[in-house]
Amino acid sequence: MKERIKQLLDEVSRMTATNTEELEALRIKYLSKKGEISQLFNDFRNVANEDKREVGQLLNQLKNAAQAQINTLKERFANQQETAQHTDLTRTAEPVKLGTRHPLSLVREEIIDIFGRIGFTVAEGPEIEDDWHVFSALNFPPEHPARDMQDTFFVERHANDVLLRTHTSSVQVRTMLRQQPPIRMVFPGRVYRNEAISYRAHCFFHQVEGLYVDKNVSFADLKQALLYFAKEMFGTETEIRLRPSYFPFTEPSAEMDISCLICGGKGCPFCKHTGWVEILGCGMVDPNVLRNCGIDPDVYSGYAFGMGVERIANLKYQVKDLRMFSENDVRFLEQFEAAY
Ligand code: PHE
Repeated sequence: MKERIKQLLDEVSRMTATNTEELEALRIKYLSKKGEISQLFNDFRNVANEDKREVGQLLNQLKNAAQAQINTLKERFANQQETAQHTDLTRTAEPVKLGTRHPLSLVREEIIDIFGRIGFTVAEGPEIEDDWHVFSALNFPPEHPARDMQDTFFVERHANDVLLRTHTSSVQVRTMLRQQPPIRMVFPGRVYRNEAISYRAHCFFHQVEGLYVDKNVSFADLKQALLYFAKEMFGTETEIRLRPSYFPFTEPSAEMDISCLICGGKGCPFCKHTGWVEILGCGMVDPNVLRNCGIDPDVYSGYAFGMGVERIANLKYQVKDLRMFSENDVRFLEQFEAAY
């Protein structure tokens, strides 16, 4: 009998229930008139007299323990029910926080949109390229420094042919190989250059380049398209300035500045007191490039331009450190919530 009581004591101390029905079943099992503990009380009269004192105490202990455990479980269910009653199921849900567009996506889309309004469509190409599409077809001489490991990432160490594109001009090449003029397209995409990472340079960035090839395309057409772009992007007050420059794939070539947005051209630290900030490279497509891509330079001419998306985003949002664009710090990214 003592053994049985001890066993039940142990059982009772570990008893649990997941709902009120289970709890009631436990109560019946141990404490009802026909329950196990009541049975033991019935058997009590058969206990030898000298043991009665000890067994009686144990029995009472068991009964109290069972009752206490059942009461605790009961209380727990009561509390749960109370919280359930206080949940207002008709209340409107907390607003779900929408993500924000990345500033570079916003700017890229805006550039594409502006050129889209004057008939430019979009083409994309591979980031892993070969030498011919990135350099040779674009009239880079064999000894040009851009072909050096210092400037270009090569995918295979000992084969100088597979590399990460350093500009999206490679997509211009792919487009011209695929179709005859008229071609009027922009080429957005990520590009890679072997630069030390700092607040003003990164080993990858984004470009949107543009190409227009048709009969009688002139430098005046280029200038007008870029002036339109600058005014749409930065405001109608914006002025542009073209400075002679050099690229292997364009002749003549130019770099375009816009009047400084911050000081309106008067001169400030942002424009290094010149009143102008550089935003893109451009020029007339070199006849060699057209020829390399299967387009007759005696029939067609074209212009091309290329700009860095980070640079345009910097001008629009004055982000001082280029690295912010690729660090995915939500405190930075959240600021563009209302931008589109
Ligand atoms: N491909 C040039 C660069 O990456 C930009 C450019 C494009 C310049 C087209 C002129 C014409 O720097």
